Amino acid sequence: MDRNNYKDKWNDRVSSLKSGAIAVDGSTDEETLLSNGQWTSDQMQIALNINKDDTVLEMGCGVARIGKLLAPHCKKWIGVDISENMLNVAKERLGDLDNVEFHDLKRNDLACIPDNSVDKAYSVAVFCHLDKEDLFNYLREMYRILKPGGTIYVETWNLAHDIGWKRWQYEADNWFIADHSQRKDVTRNQFCSPDEFDLYVKKSGFDILGSYSDSVWNQIVAVKEATDDSKQSHIDYLVKHESDFVYSATFSKLFEYAMDVTYNAIHPKEMMTYIDSLGDVPVAVLYRRFLIGLWGNNVELWGDVEQ
Ligand SMILES: C[S@@+](CC[C@H](N)C(=O)[O-])C[C@H]1O[C@@H](n2cnc3c(N)ncnc32)[C@H](O)[C@@H]1O
Repeated sequence: MDRNNYKDKWNDRVSSLKSGAIAVDGSTDEETLLSNGQWTSDQMQIALNINKDDTVLEMGCGVARIGKLLAPHCKKWIGVDISENMLNVAKERLGDLDNVEFHDLKRNDLACIPDNSVDKAYSVAVFCHLDKEDLFNYLREMYRILKPGGTIYVETWNLAHDIGWKRWQYEADNWFIADHSQRKDVTRNQFCSPDEFDLYVKKSGFDILGSYSDSVWNQIVAVKEATDDSKQSHIDYLVKHESDFVYSATFSKLFEYAMDVTYNAIHPKEMMTYIDSLGDVPVAVLYRRFLIGLWGNNVELWGDVEQ
């Protein structure tokens, strides 16, 4: 049977916490996973104004990198994923929380979740691994399961940003030398221009409240069936808080360094020098931890870690 499907491909990457953490965001240990998870959990909490009355769903939750930090702030946190192996690690990591629920998806839909049952939903680092038809169908499913007035946060790679384009070109270059008798990996990285991503969100029925594309990511916050007054108050809220969840230019630059290190285009020392130049700002602390882990895992290639 052809194993080039989302479920088999993602299951094959995960057999333990260690391999699961690497598969979700390149974290090489639990400490890094927690600090990255805190960063993204804060972003979700602010972008969606999440509070203790909310039932919140994450589409493609992986090992619950985000859920572990976010669940204590909501009434119920629901993690769904196509990979049972990811969910097994997630369940272990969240074993001490009693307001969480998991569903392993059989197909690319949210059939396990009733209509109009969720207050807020988000998906991070998943749409960038989906074919466009599946991306659109998941958006339609998110619309169906949300209560009227409910909000979503979604993101994907931004093809129209210089660093997004560079990331995509790595994909094109890889494909240029790949085995063309094989279909492309269904889980490969995929990209949208901001207009295209906006279109999928709008055509799923949502009203866009904020769309941000000055970084390597397109980020969108959108609402289902809101009155004009309620929409305006959401927009006012986002304007006030966007600098706390929208990726900064420095975040994009650090991402570019990390990408070049990963593809072995530069030595990690070069990235460390840039990180040092930023001082102890939170984004530098975040990437320093990530880089030390990545470098430490590849000392044969790059030599001992220099901090
Ligand atoms: C890069 S990981 C991100 C995990 C998590 N959102 C995070 O940010 O830590 C991508 C996740 O999406 C899940 N996924 C991939 N394709 C999927 C699909 N078609 N339906 C549902 N989940 C999917 C994978 O199993 C994996 O857990």
